[in-house]
This record gives sequence, C-alpha cells and structure tokens, in this order.
Amino acid sequence: MKKIAILGSGTVGQTFATRLNALGYEVMIGTRNLQEKLAAPGKDGAKNGFAQWHEKNGTIKAGTFEEAAAFGEMILNVSQGANSIAVLNLAKAKNLEGKILVDISNPLDFSKGMPPGLVPELSNFNSLGEEIQKTFSNAKVVKTLNTMWCGIMVDPSIIKGDHINYICGNDEAAKTTVKEFLNTLGWKDQNILDLGDLSSARGTEAVLPVWLRIYGAKKMGAFNFNIVS
Ligand SMILES: NC(=O)c1ccc[n+]([C@@H]2O[C@H](COP(=O)([O-])OP(=O)(O)OC[C@H]3O[C@@H](n4cnc5c(N)ncnc54)[C@H](OP(=O)(O)O)[C@@H]3O)[C@@H](O)[C@H]2O)c1
Repeated sequence: MKKIAILGSGTVGQTFATRLNALGYEVMIGTRNLQEKLAAPGKDGAKNGFAQWHEKNGTIKAGTFEEAAAFGEMILNVSQGANSIAVLNLAKAKNLEGKILVDISNPLDFSKGMPPGLVPELSNFNSLGEEIQKTFSNAKVVKTLNTMWCGIMVDPSIIKGDHINYICGNDEAAKTTVKEFLNTLGWKDQNILDLGDLSSARGTEAVLPVWLRIYGAKKMGAFNFNIVS
C-alpha cells in the first residue's frame, strides 16, 4: 500500500508525513479546515506550527480529513484521542470502508490538568481502539505505536538496543500488513509484540499514565520500554 492518509495535523501527523514521504510513500495529511490551519500561528508564536511545517514540506499533499481519508489506501489516526471519533466522522465512514485504520492515538483527558488521565468512557473496560472499531465496523482497526514518543515511532533506531512496540487488532491479515509497514519504518519483527485482539488496546492505552510519569521524572521523551525475563 503506497497511499497513506494521515488524520491529524499535530506533531505526530507532521512527523509521519515527513518520514513516510522520505520513504517513498504518497502521503496526504488531513485537518478540519486547511485554510484556517495555514493561517493559525504556531505554538511558539509563528515558528513551530502546521503552517511552518507545510512551508518546508510543500510537496506533501494536505487537505480536509475527508479528502485525506478518500485518498488513502491505508489510514493513520493521529488525532487528539478524546476527539478521534469526531475526526473519523468528518473523514466519513465510506472512506474508511474495508481499509486498514492504524490507530496511534491515546484517549487523554486534560480536563483535570496535567498530567492528563484517560477519558473514563474510553478506558478500563473499554479503549479508544475498540470504540473506533465499534463505530466504524467496516474498517480494520489495528492499534500500535501509541506507547512512545513519535520520533521513536518513525525511527526506532534512535534508541540503542531492543525496545518494544505492541500491536493488536481483530483482523489477522490487517495486522500482518501493518507489521510489514512497521518493518519499513525500521521496526524489527523481534521488537513487535502481538498482544492479540483489539481488547488489548485497553492495556496499551493504559501505558500512558505510566509513560507520562516517567516523562515528568526524566524530563525527556526519548525513551521506550522493553520486556525482560
Ligand atoms: N506526541 C507524541 O509523541 C505522541 C506519542 C504517542 C501517542 N500520541 C497520540 O497521537 C495523537 C496526536 O498527537 P499530537 O500531539 O500530534 O496532536 P493532538 O494535538 O493530540 O491532535 C491534533 C489533531 O486533533 C484534531 N482535533 C483536536 N480537537 C479536535 C476536535 N474538537 N474536533 C476535531 N478534531 C480535533 C486536530 O484538528 P485540526 O487539524 O483541525 O487542528 C488535529 O488534527 C494523540 O492522540 C496523542 O495522544 C502522541
């Protein structure tokens, strides 16, 4: 699959778009309203926003969530987790039908300050991955890569030695395709741990409260987990 839709214009979306474009994929990044996004100032005034990224990466296609989803043969959900269902509704169910939907988002709840918790309805006995699969039953949802900083997602070699990426989903063939996609990003088979069906997203999304506390203690995000026995 060469045409990839990236639903999310934040740091993660930009990181994937740049890397996948460099790897030779055809990419389209989606946002709610491209013109408004291009006119918006970056987080630090004007230096670090989507418009500045787009200026440097003008050959990478950008459009609405709907346009991106229609374009992609495979779709990455890298939108704000608490609003991912809304984003996918904007992308339109017909554009997701039969496609692999790689869910990298986390259902973070910022309503009680920092660090965020998990959205109560999307955690414990549910997960964002499962909610997306229930809502868009014709898409093949595969959850992966959500347990680490995005720089590592797209280039695992920046961490020395073995470190782990989880994958789960209900469709075995879709998971196989996503594992091959992960290989093209540099993930070795031995470092991809298949946790089974999508209910395992309850576990991998629950890594985030731990990840955030480690980030707070170490004051840096360029770390990952490994399994030792
Ligand atoms: N940062 C990391 O390294 C990292 C690591 C692991 C997982 N993640 C997960 O990756 C996802 C993306 O993170 P991010 O920091 O790049 O971006 P983000 O700020 O979490 O999400 C940005 C995207 O969400 C959309 N969005 C926000 N609120 C919306 C709403 N009310 N309705 C519709 N769309 C809305 C934005 O739309 P517009 O484009 O229209 O603004 C934008 O495309 C998150 O779920 C995060 O938990 C991030």
